[in-house]
Amino acid sequence: MSDPAAPKTVNLRYGDESVELPVLSGTEGERAIDVSSLRAKTGLITLDSGYGNTGSCQSAITFIDGERGILRYRGYPIEQLAERSSFLEVAWLLIKGELPSRAELAALREEVVRHTLLHESFTQFFSALPRDAHPMPVLAAAVGALATFYQEPESEQLIHDSCIRLLAKMPTIAAYSYKHSIGQPLIYPQNSLDYCSNFLRMMFATPCEEYATDPLLARALDLLLILHADHEQNCSTSTVRLVGSSQANLFACISSGISALWGPLHGGANQQVIEMLQSIADGDGSAERFVARAKDKNDTARLMGFGHRIYKSYDPRAAILKKTCKEVVGKLGTSSRMLEIAMKLEEIALSDEYFISRKLYPNVDFYSGVIYTAMGIPVNMFTVMFAMGRLPGWIAHWLEMRADPAFRIGRPRQIYQGATERAYIPIEKRGEGPVSRLARRHARASAGA
Ligand code: ACO
Repeated sequence: MSDPAAPKTVNLRYGDESVELPVLSGTEGERAIDVSSLRAKTGLITLDSGYGNTGSCQSAITFIDGERGILRYRGYPIEQLAERSSFLEVAWLLIKGELPSRAELAALREEVVRHTLLHESFTQFFSALPRDAHPMPVLAAAVGALATFYQEPESEQLIHDSCIRLLAKMPTIAAYSYKHSIGQPLIYPQNSLDYCSNFLRMMFATPCEEYATDPLLARALDLLLILHADHEQNCSTSTVRLVGSSQANLFACISSGISALWGPLHGGANQQVIEMLQSIADGDGSAERFVARAKDKNDTARLMGFGHRIYKSYDPRAAILKKTCKEVVGKLGTSSRMLEIAMKLEEIALSDEYFISRKLYPNVDFYSGVIYTAMGIPVNMFTVMFAMGRLPGWIAHWLEMRADPAFRIGRPRQIYQGATERAYIPIEKRGEGPVSRLARRHARASAGA
């Protein structure tokens, strides 16, 4: 809770000058110095590489307290949403700000179902891409390409329709990108199915064989999507906001968020967890030896899926997933060896001084990859699953940003460290630079070839 007695301003001394800057408080007691007038008053800017201590906006969507392992969407604890809600309900909550009524949720489901199909010419779009294309750039390109199909002038109705189209078409595009990569025909959505069952069927059915979704798997997938639905100002969400701040179209902004998520430092960690578990299983199978390697500063091995920039007591999403992971793997049994190794790694690390003293706990990715593997989802689709889950969060932030009275184009400053002013040198007076030496070597090589 915010402390009413906390000072409302801060005084900054710089040389002989002293400036007073306002301090803002959030509803959960977070405080920030508003530096927006600092440059006008002093000529100074603030520098914070990686924005580790910079608030880029005021937001009412998601609250995280990393020290206490708290994650809430619109005030509702993630544990309660995970246990009692569905992904579409959470999507409504994030986008609209309140839980939907029964009628509102039914209407949302109906609208989503009516928009699951892609324009038929999209089949040509997929077939134009290389067979071995990674599904993430395919997803980013296809979502960006949606903007070419819906070009009406922007209005409240169009924005609403775009949100629905994104929620509805994302699973279809994701499944198509997978089908294309394995050379199988695309499977059309079946609207009698729920959101996750429909996606699993589009992934795994073929024209020769139907796929009956196991309700346990559909529920596990729904849970994974809920847990990934928002995480406040992370890299991809900040990207969506920054691109959106130029008033770019929603599809373009979501496409940029997908591209940001693709990076291994952001959405790629659960893939690395599976690779780690697989390498232990394929090697001597010893969790103890791997943990010893992860602690050794001369070894590059890290305990993937452990540690988090924000969570320093535990990641509440990991605790929820551990239980689901056991249920899914227990039912399917397909990757029980991986789960056994994961649980052994966790047990050793949680009682090891190295991990305790550094506040390193399992993060959401420690178990999500094991669940996806048990479901039969290939490793290169893991980040696509993450993008499907994060979609409502991206949309909610895009909408919140545009409704913000303080909304203006994002434009950070910099401290310039390059050459100071110098006079232009005519080309005949310039020496031979490294680039032209390289060009000559190429010319010689191709002449000799
Ligand atoms: N295994 C072994 N040691 C670790 C690990 C790990 N997984 N994570 C951190 N450490 C150690 C570091 O070596 C460092 O030790 P030191 O103080 O002796 O130098 C200390 O713990 C602090 O680590 P930092 O890297 O400074 O912590 P930071 O907050 O910058 O990094 C991060 C967090 C990137 C998540 C890190 O813990 C990590 O690399 N984990 C493994 C990768 C991973 O699981 N990423 C997914 C994050 S969740 C998500 O993005 C959805």
